Amino acid sequence: MRIPVDIAAMGARATEMLDALGAISQSGDNLTRFFLTPEHRRAADLVAGYMKAAGLDVSEDALGTLRGRWQPAGPEAPRLLIGSHIDTVANAGRYDGTMGVIVGILAVEAVVKAGLKRPYGIDVLAFGDEEGTRFPTTLSSSAAVAGHFLPSWLGARDADGVSLEEAIRAYGKDPADIPAAAYDPDKTIAYVEAHIEQGPVLEAEGEPLGIVSAIAGASRLSITVTGEAGHAGTVPMRMRRDAFAGAAEMALVAEKIARADRHGMVATVGRLHVEPGSVNVIPSRVVFTLDLRSGSDISRREALTEFEREAHRIADARGLGVVISAFHEVGTVPCYRDLQLRLRNAAADLGQRAPTLPSGAGHDGQAMSRLCPVGMLFVRCRGGISHNPAEYASPQDIGLAVAALVRFIERFELPQLAGSVQGAEQ
Ligand code: GLV
Ligand code: MN
Ligand code: MN
Repeated sequence: MRIPVDIAAMGARATEMLDALGAISQSGDNLTRFFLTPEHRRAADLVAGYMKAAGLDVSEDALGTLRGRWQPAGPEAPRLLIGSHIDTVANAGRYDGTMGVIVGILAVEAVVKAGLKRPYGIDVLAFGDEEGTRFPTTLSSSAAVAGHFLPSWLGARDADGVSLEEAIRAYGKDPADIPAAAYDPDKTIAYVEAHIEQGPVLEAEGEPLGIVSAIAGASRLSITVTGEAGHAGTVPMRMRRDAFAGAAEMALVAEKIARADRHGMVATVGRLHVEPGSVNVIPSRVVFTLDLRSGSDISRREALTEFEREAHRIADARGLGVVISAFHEVGTVPCYRDLQLRLRNAAADLGQRAPTLPSGAGHDGQAMSRLCPVGMLFVRCRGGISHNPAEYASPQDIGLAVAALVRFIERFELPQLAGSVQGAEQ
């Protein structure tokens, strides 16, 4: 059975929904929507409405992850999961994450409307903590669904000192219910996510769709450098213990390590807090973050060791203290070969080549890979720009992604995947 999909109409509807979600923000002049905030609540309510209108049964777990369930074979049947996230970075674009949720809803809606019969169900998931921008707990909502939520995360605090546990309660949920968010691995077939590429490759190749081979591993560190405050006008340069100058040298070392790497390693210092933060006081304490990623887990671990060694050398040479702690660590996740093939065949049904490419960005699939096989479909985005308000994917490309997921589901007749061979090399 070929389900009719009007690609242009689907793309237009998806864009309208994304525009409505893009207007839900903590900030008056940009899109910022963090985990477990009132704006997360409003966005989740809107998405729940879209899910219901698509014919799905909607529920929500203790971390606010929405589930829209299509259950043609009853509630106990195995599930195919399709999802992405609805939290954003600060000053975000409106496609990162949210597009995958909307594409999933529209694809399943088309399947529901067509009256397709399947011996399994499909759950569309909308996660709330993919970006890790509020708490240092990146991927906690997908980890809970995968059955790997760590209770110690409940003590993590946001910039205002609110703990994750407090935020969960303020959202109207009970942390005691987190274990119930986990899916049964024996009844979970796979997790599939559509996402904008967030890079320039598909645009350069003139291809609207791509198939992800693997999601690069990542480490996130918090580095605290301590020196001594002093008068900016009186302390000679040779007598200073300037925590910021030391932190700056460490940031440049991280950049140098990444540039020298042969596996496309990337290093980013994205957050930096200087104390006491006065124009005329030598900084006494600096806390900064380092986000380090690579397609090779081996080279990422070597780089971490080298960075730590260099940071201590710099601190010693400058008479500073340094403490380094890791708050997020996830290995490279290969996408399941059978899912790559199925997604490529679905794209081929639409006349699309859908080249294979790795993902440098992190995704909920990294946490979901501990539950089940993972597959990802990338959608071209203009200029490869993401984590930026200029982020853009065209309605036509988004409509194609909806159609590709519809073809993927059509071809997915039995609740099993072929083989157990994972797809990527280290
Ligand atoms: C999420 O977007 C990440 O890759 O940091
Ligand atoms: Mn994302
Ligand atoms: Mn993102």
